[in-house]
Amino acid sequence: MADILLRGGRLVDPAGEADATCDVLISGGRIEAVGTGLDPGRAEVIDVDGAIVAPGFVDTHVHLREPGREDEETIASGSAAAVLGGYTAICAMPNTDPVCDNAAVAEKVAATGSFLGLTQVIPAGSLTQGLQGKHLAAIGEMATCNARVRLFTDDGHGVQDARLLRRAMEYLKGFGAICAEHCDDESLSEGGHMHEGEYSSRLGLRGQPAEAEELALARDIVLARLTGARFHALHVSTARSVAIIRQAKADGLPVTAEATPHHLTLTDACLVDYDTNFKVNPPLRSPHDVEVLRAGLADGTIDNIATDHAPHAAQEKEAEFEAAPPGLIGLETALGVIMGELVEGGLLTLGDMVRRMSTTPARILGLEGQGGPVVPGAWANLVVFDPGARWTVDPGKFASRCRNCPWAGKELVGRVLLTVFQGRVVGRDGQVSTAAPLGAFA
Ligand code: DOR
Repeated sequence: MADILLRGGRLVDPAGEADATCDVLISGGRIEAVGTGLDPGRAEVIDVDGAIVAPGFVDTHVHLREPGREDEETIASGSAAAVLGGYTAICAMPNTDPVCDNAAVAEKVAATGSFLGLTQVIPAGSLTQGLQGKHLAAIGEMATCNARVRLFTDDGHGVQDARLLRRAMEYLKGFGAICAEHCDDESLSEGGHMHEGEYSSRLGLRGQPAEAEELALARDIVLARLTGARFHALHVSTARSVAIIRQAKADGLPVTAEATPHHLTLTDACLVDYDTNFKVNPPLRSPHDVEVLRAGLADGTIDNIATDHAPHAAQEKEAEFEAAPPGLIGLETALGVIMGELVEGGLLTLGDMVRRMSTTPARILGLEGQGGPVVPGAWANLVVFDPGARWTVDPGKFASRCRNCPWAGKELVGRVLLTVFQGRVVGRDGQVSTAAPLGAFA
């Protein structure tokens, strides 16, 4: 593996508290040295003057669609999209076909990811068999197999049965695993296609009330208190959800929460043209919800930013609004959306952003060698980006197999220049490396 010297970048490493112009020397997959005027020796010198060097981004929430819907995404295309977005680790949701509710599927997803060698692919296991919400999945088998599944969820749906969720939490606690919920009381939200409010009335679409999320979240936190299990709230979207999480944290419960770039920047008003690229679950909410969600992200109530990258085939998204599936692709636009809206907008510093997109999600998933600190001896999992680069989103150029991107044609700020995974340059200037993957020789 060739040695690399990243010369002259500004290291933003909240884990190591560094924020200075320096060189990073990478050798044998690891950071060899960090400092100014480093001697490259035989290393390839890559000039990153003026760019930010940071620990690679970590996404707690992506849909890779393999196995089952390889027409929409594969582990390879999703990994490539992650590379172009600056992600060195992604957690793959279990709503595949077959569902990731057993060790065989979990091991296959993890092994395919490591064979590709583009980014770390971490399978999430389902909480219930077949995501049916009736019987527990093979949680113990998944937690102890080679894939060592750490995060369990029925994402796409919440577990409606409180007794079953309690059992799942009790079981998960024994493995130190995380119960991650798509908080949704379906008795309130079923049949809804967007946020219930002024716009759903105007557009004549049935709404999903904010309370559907909040009731489920409050119940889940009560169960987390009862069982002592670690709980992670997926794609939090409402103002009162932020308040509920804040209270849970104040009570000392082991609760974490994520929010997506779309819930942090878009509102239900985006649906005025019935554009299905803005149809997501949970739905885009009101301006007040967005404002409170942003404040929660800034004060740390919301721990991390996750994309909920959810590819859908064009023919399915082009259906009438009620028939179209919810979801949007986000891996390749997350940095540009967050930099442009939240960093340039003054809500987050660069260090805050790196903490919420890398350090904290790596800690939530318990990943070694991800999220920094960028210090000698650590695995070289890095992203290099130009914080001021303005670019126009063209989904036609994405590595993802799908095009359901609400930011198409929009100008974003902040562009990934380089992604380094385990010491190898896997992405550069919008291209994914075609060099033989590490795993090909394993
Ligand atoms: O918008 C969404 N799409 N929300 C989910 O929870 C599931 C996801 C999907 O799988 O498409």
